[in-house]
Amino acid sequence: TFTPRVFSGIQPSGGLTLGNYLGAMKRFVDMQNEGSHETVYCMVDMHAITVWQDPDKLRRATRELCAGFIAAGIDPNKSILFNQSQVAEHAQLAWIFNCVARMGWMQRMTQWKDKAGKNQQNASLGLLAYPALMAADILVYHATHVPVGDDQKQHLELTRDVAIKFNHDYGVDFFPITEPVIEGAATRVMSLRDGSKKMSKSDPSDASRINMTDDADTIAKKIRKAKTDPDALPSEEKGLEDRPEARNLVNIYAALAEQSVDAVLREMGGKQFSEFKPILSDLAVEKLAPISTEMARLMQDPAEIDRILGHGAQQAREIAAPILKKTYDIVGM
Ligand code: ADP
Ligand code: NA
Repeated sequence: TFTPRVFSGIQPSGGLTLGNYLGAMKRFVDMQNEGSHETVYCMVDMHAITVWQDPDKLRRATRELCAGFIAAGIDPNKSILFNQSQVAEHAQLAWIFNCVARMGWMQRMTQWKDKAGKNQQNASLGLLAYPALMAADILVYHATHVPVGDDQKQHLELTRDVAIKFNHDYGVDFFPITEPVIEGAATRVMSLRDGSKKMSKSDPSDASRINMTDDADTIAKKIRKAKTDPDALPSEEKGLEDRPEARNLVNIYAALAEQSVDAVLREMGGKQFSEFKPILSDLAVEKLAPISTEMARLMQDPAEIDRILGHGAQQAREIAAPILKKTYDIVGM
């Protein structure tokens, strides 16, 4: 049996979106405050550099992400909050997992296929090996639960496969079989311009996403222009079938309001989007504005952010180092 422990990470690869907030960060805060698990949260800069990052921008994005975590409610006294590259055990365990995982597993990953595109020969080796590093991120803490958005489901299955194969190959029961925690109304927030694409910080269209740092006018404008259909909101969930854009806005509202989709539709059913959209943008501004204000305040003191990250790395290492040492011992190193 393993100590209940939550681990998750976010890449410092540019501004945070509403998708990152509702699908990941807000859930991290909820799990921290439930208090039934130890919580370990990480800025995964080593994942970010699997595609090119300008060094100065990466440094800034890492601090900004740390400020985002804290502004959203992660308390460095309740959770371990740190930057991946400062805890070398991640890379060390990842190498062992590179030797456990199979090429075929990596080549089947849809994120690899999407991000590498047509020219796979020219993608970095790190982009292909990304899920083995992610397995190491999780398993170097013996994490039992990993809250993520729906797009990470396949990588978490691979993490379980790595743990199972390692345990089997070496005849041990050493790594836990981690549970993905993919819950709530916003496990997959979609683009505001195209209901078939997920909202992402890497989408070239800024109108497709709400950034955590957007001001009230920008949020209102993006929601006003969000693609919808001409029908009114239904009063039951089955009325959202085959209406991905309508479903997306309702999901966003439900997650922000901390209500079920059913409850939202009972209240909003019958309203036209022209009426619902301003209600949604008011709620989004009410929830996001305090976070972006606090982020900006924290960013004025980068030395304090670095101090928090340094302390977090030390705490993380205290858990990771003995687990890595034991892994080396099992492997015969
Ligand atoms: P991105 O996909 O924006 O580059 P990351 O890969 O760093 O961000 O993902 C960080 C976390 O945010 C992951 O748990 C991921 O599943 C979640 N996430 C990212 N985009 C969305 C989205 N559109 N809806 C819900 N969760 C998301
Ligand atoms: Na992602």
